Formats: sequence, structure tokens, C-alpha cells
Amino acid sequence: MNIAVVGTGYVGLVTGTCLADIGHHVTCIDIDEEKVAKLKRSESPIYEPGLEELLERNINSGNLTFTTDYEQGFKDKDVAYIAVGTPENDDGSANLTFVETVAKQIAETAQQDIIVVTKSTVPVGTNHHVLEVLQQHKQDHVNVSVVSNPEFLREGSAIYDTFNGDRIVIGADDQHAADTIEEINRPFNVSVYKTDVASAEMIKYASNAFLATKISFINEVANICERVGANVEDVAIGMGMDDRIGNKFLNAGIGYGGSCFPKDTKALIDIAKRVDYDFKILNQVVDVNTQQQRLLVDKVKDHFNGNLQGKTFGVLGLAFKPNTDDMREAASIVVTKELLDAGATVKAFDPIAMDNAKQVLDDRINYQNNKEDTIQDVDAILILTEWDEFKYLFNNEAFKEIQNPVVFDGRNIYNAEEVSSMTYYSVGR
Ligand code: UDX
Repeated sequence: MNIAVVGTGYVGLVTGTCLADIGHHVTCIDIDEEKVAKLKRSESPIYEPGLEELLERNINSGNLTFTTDYEQGFKDKDVAYIAVGTPENDDGSANLTFVETVAKQIAETAQQDIIVVTKSTVPVGTNHHVLEVLQQHKQDHVNVSVVSNPEFLREGSAIYDTFNGDRIVIGADDQHAADTIEEINRPFNVSVYKTDVASAEMIKYASNAFLATKISFINEVANICERVGANVEDVAIGMGMDDRIGNKFLNAGIGYGGSCFPKDTKALIDIAKRVDYDFKILNQVVDVNTQQQRLLVDKVKDHFNGNLQGKTFGVLGLAFKPNTDDMREAASIVVTKELLDAGATVKAFDPIAMDNAKQVLDDRINYQNNKEDTIQDVDAILILTEWDEFKYLFNNEAFKEIQNPVVFDGRNIYNAEEVSSMTYYSVGR
């Protein structure tokens, strides 16, 4: 198939590259010239394990090309994927300006029948609106259809997830379009679930909101465990043995971040509001997460009797989770700001996300080149992201030299034995 993918952000780039890898001819389009120039050299603008190798292989085989020229990009294409951003508006709703603009451009350029697939996470009803825009701007002899094909990729394992996902959801009100997209995806060998457009749009939001709910739920259970002397890890294991509950996404910690959960939960609350429905549980899920991101700061303040003036903290991990350089909605944003505002000095290090962190975090942060420097001469160490290289910190010579180390572990990465020589705080244990 000849496929165009518009938007080379995280979703578009992974989708385009993987579709090329299973044998399709893919042109990725983006207005950002610098980014496209980089991609043509097989350089990925994001950190995603395995992506650069895949880029190189498919660019070299001729299956994958990049352009900033819409007309050239849409020429002779059977299918166009829309994978542009839907940033959050101030009121929590999704901003659809980019999606609409691209739909119009596709319609104005297409010279042959085309199926438009939305990968961007869009509110229920958007695909029908996209169809209207396409019909309004297309040429008379061209037939257009829309398909909702939400992505469920996790950052840091997006390539793996594409080839080993739990399901591919195809939402279409047109059988031919649904069958074509199923055929395109067949080589991935992942189960396909076909439904109508509105249900597919809803599946994406409901899935992410449910996972966020699971996290906020276990975080509240953790907060209770601390008060009743239970261990949330054991509780989660015991709960997860029940197949109906499942053992995944029950890790307590300092809350969820990233590009999806915070945005999608708020967007679903907004979608509900627009149809006069108050999504009560989800409002609480969001509130609990805000509270949880501050949890470690409260523990630090308690330990130092409320006075952080003149104290120095070594913060390990800034990305919202390991194996990514993504800083969006990371707990580190809240934690470092609170510490600084309370008069503390903050030293910080992340193995991959330093460049992005410098753009997002407070200028007062003292960035370090490695974990050893970060934990030297500090009053306490805070672990905010569970990178592998922090998991054996207690074996590190620099750590062993610290007299009476104090560690606040926001991701529960150590067990009781490992922390016997430190003053140690974690979540729900
Ligand atoms: C998520 C979804 O998993 C994916 O299906 C969707 O398409 C996009 O959003 P991602 O944001 O990449 O993917 O990260 P994920 O690994 O799901 O973690 C999200 C956040 O939840 C992270 O901040 C993580 O630390 C937190 N989390 C996850 C927990 O706090 N506890 C858990 O048990 C699991």
C-alpha cells in the first residue's frame, strides 16, 4: 500500500516507521524542516529504543521517505494517517486545530480515492467532523472515508508494542475502509477489533482513564497501608492474583505523568461534561494524582521538621518514567519546584532526559553529570524515576561513603534488606 503519515511526533514516527517495516511504501510529512532533515539522515528526534535502527533500515530499503511538501506527500496515496498533536486547551479539552488543518489539506490535495485514518487521540465525534471537512474540500471525483485507529503504545517500548500489542482497534462506519486498514495491519499479527467510529474513539479514552484509575486507586491504598502498617507491594501482589483484577499497573508511587494519562483523563472529563455528565470517579483520579505527585515533598518536610531552608537535595531521575527523555507532566516538575520554593538547593541528574529537563524545570536547579556527583554533600537523596542505574545505588562507592544516608524513594525500587543501612522512606510500605 502507498501510505502517507502526517505528523512525525511520537505516534506518527513510530507508526510510519513500523508500517514501512512490514512492507508498505510510507511517506511521513511534517512542517518542521529541521526535524525532517534530521529524519532523512535516520536520526530520531525522540529517544525511543530501537527506532533509529528501524528508521535506517527502511530509509535504505526505500520504503520510508520524509518530506515537508504536502502535495508530494499525498501524491498517489491510498491511505493517509493523521498523527498530529492534540494539545490540551486551558479548560482540559483537546485542541483540534492541527487535525482540522491536515484534513483540509488532504482533501485539497487528493487526486484519487483516499482513506483517512486518525491516530491522534481525538474526542468522540471528531472523526465525523473530519469526514465533513474532507467532503467539503475534496474534488468531486474523489471518494473519502475515515477510520479511527487509536494507538496504545507505551513510550520506551513503542516498537515492541507495535509488533506485540494486545489489540488493534479499527473504528469505521464503512466496511471497505475497515477491511483495508485491517489488511494493512495484518503483518503485525496482532488481534484486530472492528467497531464503529464513535466506539473506537471512546475505547482509547476509556482505556487510558481506566489505567490511570488503577494507578490512583493503588496509590490511595498505599497511603492507607502506611497508616495501618500494611505493605502495598504485598497487597498489590495479593490483589493481582485475581485474574479479574490483573497484576499490572498496581505499582504505587508518586503518580502518573507523560503525554497520555494526564491529558486523556482531563479530556474525557470534558467530553462527559459536554453531554451533561459528571464523570465523578475520573475527577477524583486526577485529584489523587495531583496529591500523589506532592507526596514525597510532604515526607521530606516531615523528616526535616518543616524547615528545608539551607538544605541540599540530590534528585535522581527527572523523566516521567524510565527509558524515555519525555518530561511531560513528570512528578519531578512538582517536586523540584516545591523543594526550591521552600528554600532548598536542588542537585539533579537523569540518564537521558537532561536536555528536555533543562527546558522545563526551574532555572535554579543545579544539574549534575552523573549520579555520584548528585548524591555527594546532600542532606537527602530523592528517587523520582526508576531508571535501572539507580537500582543498585546502595552498592555504589560514592553512596557507601555517605554518613547516615537519607533516601526518599518515590518509586519503591529498594527492598527492606537493601535499605538496612539508610534512613529510608518509600510509598505505602
Ligand atoms: C500510556 C499507556 O500505557 C499507553 O497505552 C497509551 O497509549 C499512552 O499512555 P505511557 O504514557 O508511555 O503509555 O506510559 P506508561 O508506561 O503507561 O506509564 C504512565 C505513567 O504511569 C508513568 O508515569 C508511570 O510511572 C505511571 N505508572 C504506571 C505508575 O505509577 N504505576 C504503575 O503501576 C504503572
